[in-house]
Amino acid sequence: MKKDLGNIKIYIMDDYEQMSVQASAIVAEQINGKPDSVIGFATGSTPVGMYKELIKLNKAGKLSFSGIIAFNLDEYFPIKKSNAQSYDYFMKDNLFNHVNIDKSKLNIPDGEATDAQAECIAYEGKIKASGGIDLQILGMGNNGHIGFNEPADAFTNMTNCITLDKSTIEANARFFQSVNEVPIKALTMGIKTIMLARKIVLLVNGEKKAKILKDSLLGNITPKVPASALQLHQNVVAVVDKEAGKYLG
Ligand code: GLP
Repeated sequence: MKKDLGNIKIYIMDDYEQMSVQASAIVAEQINGKPDSVIGFATGSTPVGMYKELIKLNKAGKLSFSGIIAFNLDEYFPIKKSNAQSYDYFMKDNLFNHVNIDKSKLNIPDGEATDAQAECIAYEGKIKASGGIDLQILGMGNNGHIGFNEPADAFTNMTNCITLDKSTIEANARFFQSVNEVPIKALTMGIKTIMLARKIVLLVNGEKKAKILKDSLLGNITPKVPASALQLHQNVVAVVDKEAGKYLG
């Protein structure tokens, strides 16, 4: 089912697999239409199926990543790239090592940086120098965060170093040996960085995100629900499964 809110198009797909196929088609269309696209990538369990589909398209010769520039949304701080829970490791493991991407064009905030603030400024500068993001892929946290922009009193601006919410640390502890190993900070593109992307594809699955998805797309625009900022973007495609989309009508 497809719904059109004007600036936000919503695909409500039967299941996670269909969601992943639909989202991969949107990313492939972008890259095939503009082979030197600047693509913003996301981590989390949600986009893993889409990355599998993109790998299939690449192996079938239907999609080439050779011309793209990649910028990841976020990274824990501090964290070693060799840590299997780093987003650097995640992206290589789930996508970059399996496609014909130019390794010199991969950008992920540096969790090993000595000066977080300087790293954020440099990262934002690299995005700008690349000409800006053509297509930003987003997942969404249980609390409505995008990237690692947590609910707050104001929307964040550019790439910054944030303190993770207790709920996010608990949600992400499933990937670590224990909750104590989850870094308490992260480097993340800010809401403004995300909003400057020319197109956004938002992926959300599962019933536990149904309410926050409805609040994000149909509720008040408020920094308490960071993803609600997307209502102010001109070109968003939300691809969700029917469990997550159950309150979208
Ligand atoms: C992390 C990431 C987000 C992601 C979120 C949801 O906190 N920083 O970019 O969207 O998790 O993760 P999941 O897809 O596993 O629910």
